[in-house]
Amino acid sequence: MTNMAANFTDSDLMRVRDDTPGLSARVHLDNCGSALMPRAVIEAQQRYFDLEIQYGGYVAQEQQSEGLARVYASLASLLGGKTTDYAITSSAVDAWTKTFYSILMQPGDNIVTAYTEYCANYVAFLQRAKRDGIEIRVARAGEDGTLDLAQLDELVDSRTKVIAVTQVPSSSGQVLPVEEIGKIAKAKDVLYLLDACQAVGQLPVNFEAIGCDMATGTSRKFLRGPRGIGFLYITEKARRSIDPVVLTNQAATWTGDNTYSMREDAGVFEAWERSCVNQMGFGAAIDYFLEQGVEKMTGQVRVLSDHLRAGLRDVPGVIPTCQADARAGIITFNKHGFKPIEIKTALEKQGIAVQVAGIFHTRLDLGARGIEDAVRISPHYYNSTNELDRFLTALEAL
Ligand SMILES: Cc1ncc(COP(=O)(O)O)c(C=O)c1O
Repeated sequence: MTNMAANFTDSDLMRVRDDTPGLSARVHLDNCGSALMPRAVIEAQQRYFDLEIQYGGYVAQEQQSEGLARVYASLASLLGGKTTDYAITSSAVDAWTKTFYSILMQPGDNIVTAYTEYCANYVAFLQRAKRDGIEIRVARAGEDGTLDLAQLDELVDSRTKVIAVTQVPSSSGQVLPVEEIGKIAKAKDVLYLLDACQAVGQLPVNFEAIGCDMATGTSRKFLRGPRGIGFLYITEKARRSIDPVVLTNQAATWTGDNTYSMREDAGVFEAWERSCVNQMGFGAAIDYFLEQGVEKMTGQVRVLSDHLRAGLRDVPGVIPTCQADARAGIITFNKHGFKPIEIKTALEKQGIAVQVAGIFHTRLDLGARGIEDAVRISPHYYNSTNELDRFLTALEAL
């Protein structure tokens, strides 16, 4: 087998493929949408679901309290920080919005972001701009198409309340220099909120090394967990400086008729009710990733992405829509004579899953480059080069 990361072997590929029932009949190239779960995740969920069937939700939860709590430790092992810095939420957007709306801002304060910011986050900026009179400042791409860090630095001033950026956007393989942004946030003593939803699971990510105060992500994408669950990372320093926009019975205790006490850990952003089945599956997904080896698996995503980028260059009529420096496992393109949805539909008929990225995902980036939509492919370490070549051949034959 060619095109392997230095330490990713044939037997690694066979093992991870064997662990993934969904790969048996299809070529799955929509891992940044929602990846395929490994058996370890499926079985962890099935075991927990059986307990709920047998004992009901509450007794099952009591019996499995240690396993459920271990998920926080798994998150901290993978992404850095303390277990108490993590909250489990129903999605990445749930985590991000709860955090963002909790940042105290006065009219005239500003948010500094970048041109690749995700749609849900930007809509929240717009709402707070309209409602709270805050200003949105956007750092753009420089001449070379990469983020103009010097501009971002200049945009931050004494009225900046948060720098909020997305590490890997949902419509290209560009990776923002998140550590450099962390240095700016630290030097200017401004809160730093990172949307790491598309980065976690495909890149080695450590929030302490990045220097962010808050970060959000999801289970179902490159981490290969179930849908309907996400997480928030928030440091103690950040927790002290914000005021949670909502409190739940998980976040605070009703201590007297007129009093309550708030949790001091990240659980202040949690709800009591949740899918414990998903929580167990999410924990199993993180543990599986850690067992396979983060460097090795993320290295293989990079190798496969490079293989696809090179292969696409040889397909007549393909117009790349990623920035020149894009290196992550999300690749977008168009093909002369076809709408992206036509390509998706035609490939789906051949058992090849790809996705369409629309301008509404990252309007400031795609809009500035005149791209309305594009085909989006996102390999994972379990894809074989044979599968990628099958996709390239099918695309050429359209
Ligand atoms: C960059 C980015 N952030 C956030 C999200 C939202 O994640 P969720 O749907 O889990 O809330 C996505 C989803 O595609 C995304 O690509």
